[in-house]
Amino acid sequence: MPLETLPERVAPSTPQLSARSFERVTTLFREVSGIKLTQAKHALVVTRLAKLAHESGEVDLDRYVESLFTGGLPDEEVTRVIDRLTTNETYFFREPEHFRHFADVLERHPERPWRVWSGASSSGEEIYSLAMLMADRLGLDSHPWGIVGTDLSTAMVGQARRALYSQGRTQGIPPAYLKRYCLKGTGEYEGQLLVDRRLRQRAHFETLNLMQALPAAFGPFDAIWLRNVLIYFEHEAKVAIVRRVISALAPQGLLYTGHSESLANLGLPIRSIAPAVYVRA
Ligand SMILES: C[S@@+](CC[C@H](N)C(=O)[O-])C[C@H]1O[C@@H](n2cnc3c(N)ncnc32)[C@H](O)[C@@H]1O
Repeated sequence: MPLETLPERVAPSTPQLSARSFERVTTLFREVSGIKLTQAKHALVVTRLAKLAHESGEVDLDRYVESLFTGGLPDEEVTRVIDRLTTNETYFFREPEHFRHFADVLERHPERPWRVWSGASSSGEEIYSLAMLMADRLGLDSHPWGIVGTDLSTAMVGQARRALYSQGRTQGIPPAYLKRYCLKGTGEYEGQLLVDRRLRQRAHFETLNLMQALPAAFGPFDAIWLRNVLIYFEHEAKVAIVRRVISALAPQGLLYTGHSESLANLGLPIRSIAPAVYVRA
């Protein structure tokens, strides 16, 4: 066959999203979550919306966005969009220095009630890492310790409640904890791990938007983990969030932020005691 008659290889077409649709969706996302997605995230937004649009039976992204705003799609679709646009990366025992620090504090103050909150708990790995550490250091019998995990994303809260993780995602768990606190799945759960029921009973998950006022009678917490979420907010929103979060800290309560999320020089009522660890002043 002469070369010129060979069929051309057709690249799969990239879905298109107009500047107006991008603006509408990212404005909605920013209003709800407080997070600004800039033009640099255009491709990411397209990929994430394309999957949702496909699932709802629409191939044209601009038409999908239009239906989102004109009520052509069920209300839950907006929640799905918000869920999909959040960045949920997390893993067990992430930033391990924090866990070493907290282990130390628990050993020095086992008498405290140790109510802990993770304000951006994603799919639950941070919460269950804490639960393993607390079960190890405080026991699972008489000590009343408990953990609350909250996140904006309902999908992530659902995953966290299930506490079921693929084995490939559990490398960060120390072998002794794996043995003691995780159950290996068999049959249809082959390749997965379920966190032990005694730990699951100590952990509660709810949706909570950090951009909004905290629920009444929330806290006080002896430690709050607010890691790898502040980086996504603009300055004003970040300061307002941290102020609200600090108000839920018990006196002498600890605040852990991600190592790239400094709270220095913001005039907040906290004192730095270790890298990315603060105490309520
Ligand atoms: C990158 S994950 C961090 C997870 C965990 N803290 C860690 O360090 O591994 C960020 C999480 O923040 C959540 N998030 C984003 N905006 C939020 C908001 N306004 N309120 C509550 N959670 C939010 C996202 O849904 C996501 O699960």
